[in-house]
Amino acid sequence: METSTANIKLVRKIKIEAELEVFESVSDLPTAIQNLMNKAHQARENAYAPYSLFKVGAAILMDSGKIITGNNQENAAFPSGLCAERVAAFSAGSQFPNEIFKAMALTAGSVKHKTISPIPPCGACRQSLAEYEVNQGTPISIYFMGESGKVVKANSVKDLLPLIFDNSYL
Ligand code: THU
Repeated sequence: METSTANIKLVRKIKIEAELEVFESVSDLPTAIQNLMNKAHQARENAYAPYSLFKVGAAILMDSGKIITGNNQENAAFPSGLCAERVAAFSAGSQFPNEIFKAMALTAGSVKHKTISPIPPCGACRQSLAEYEVNQGTPISIYFMGESGKVVKANSVKDLLPLIFDNSYL
């Protein structure tokens, strides 16, 4: 099979860049975000994760000031479970369809060992969050961490999911 690209005209190259901010600890964040992360920690404690033993908590700050939480919900039929981010986002979207998501805080960790490195949301959750960000027209800041330790901040879902697939393509 011919694999050489010598005769193919390359139109252009696209470079994708994202800037994320890393904080030493949650105490370096604004009080409202510390509070949001606290809610995510509380939600994580109630995660139903008997199979993976990996618990995730999510908290969304709405523009009204309300906080909506979620945690991962697993199932004996594995694919039927859902991640914490989507439990929280779908709960917020279903209860408050006209409100804007301002920020989301995430904390994740294994029951088997201490997780101190920041755990980013999975690809499917990034895509689900993108739907809300695109529709509301304002960015959602996302803060993620392990159980303790450093916190990473993304200013927008776009920074976590370049080349978002959105409804403009349909
Ligand atoms: N999980 C989340 O809740 N959020 C993510 O972004 C990644 C993974 C959950 C799904 C499953 O219950 C467990 O963590 C292990 O994958």
